[in-house]
Amino acid sequence: MFVVGIETSCDETGLAIYDDQHNIIVSEALNSQIDLHAEYGGVVPELASRDHVSKLIPLMNKMLEQANLSYQDIGAVAYTAGPGLIGALMVGAAYAKALAFALKIPSIGVHHLEGHLLAPMLADCSITYPFLTLLVSGGHTQLIKVTSFGHYEIMGETLDDAVGEAFDKTAKLIGLGYPGGPALEAIAKKGIPGRFNFPRPMTQKPGLNFSFSGLKTAVLTQWQQSDQSEQTKADICHAFEQAVVDTLCIKCSRAIKHTGINLLVVAGGVSANQHLRSTLKEMGQAQHCKIAFPPLKYCTDNGAMIALAGALRLQHGFQDEGNAINVKARWPLKDWN
Ligand code: KG4
Ligand code: ZN
Repeated sequence: MFVVGIETSCDETGLAIYDDQHNIIVSEALNSQIDLHAEYGGVVPELASRDHVSKLIPLMNKMLEQANLSYQDIGAVAYTAGPGLIGALMVGAAYAKALAFALKIPSIGVHHLEGHLLAPMLADCSITYPFLTLLVSGGHTQLIKVTSFGHYEIMGETLDDAVGEAFDKTAKLIGLGYPGGPALEAIAKKGIPGRFNFPRPMTQKPGLNFSFSGLKTAVLTQWQQSDQSEQTKADICHAFEQAVVDTLCIKCSRAIKHTGINLLVVAGGVSANQHLRSTLKEMGQAQHCKIAFPPLKYCTDNGAMIALAGALRLQHGFQDEGNAINVKARWPLKDWN
């Protein structure tokens, strides 16, 4: 069956068609709104919703054409039902439900984070339950024990800022563009290691929770006291990234030891970070734990992860009931089942 996935929770309009018999994405389309929001230094919700409205249908037509498929070939439509920006979610949900109604096929509301944490399965069929997930995105930072499909135990989470948010806010403080994560990573590569040193928050305490809001304040203090040269900027970015990566690694290592589970799936926008990827891989080798990442294009928001999660939901007997549009701006993953 061909399952369409529609992602509109924030600033990407992402669509994909998933072939559930062969576990492949046969076609995909993505429009990023980065340029639209750049001048405001962050996502403007109303602009995001309006842009999703104008992009969805042209992207869908393009995607079908590329796959040489027609609307009648679609077997089900999955869409992100939350968490995210309420207006943006409503646009994707309304479109998906209208499509499902017109084509007389099932629609499936998908949890955005479930999409992220299943995304590595699009490229790696050796991922089996149980596994641990480090979910690091713009809105979430969680360590999750996934015992089976749809069964999520949150082992640790951030008490304040998410990691992606910490990257974005820190980048903004020192005058880097939006989104801050990739910009900060690029400049960190030119940094001299060891010139600055930031704390590894909450690593001295037992447990698996995180706290990243203090890091940006530490960066701001150092930045204000510095010569604010390009090299200093790079050195601070390097030290910030190092502190974040070390902190995440320490907590992941703890979770692996604590559970004895030897598969860690890393997902969400920040999993695109090369320094995080290489450090976690080294840690995994030392602890005999396989570390799985999504392909780079499926780290940040996309339709493919929603199509996959929707297809799996359908296989497990879940689908929407009725035509009402139910989206949730806030929706803890543990409430899903
Ligand atoms: O998963 P995602 O696309 O959207 C949410 O669901 O939040 O994640 C976006 C976040 C942003 O905060 C962005 O700055 C961060 O992921 N990000 C990165 C990198 N690429 C994206 N952070 C660090 N390094 C990167 N290479
Ligand atoms: Zn996301």
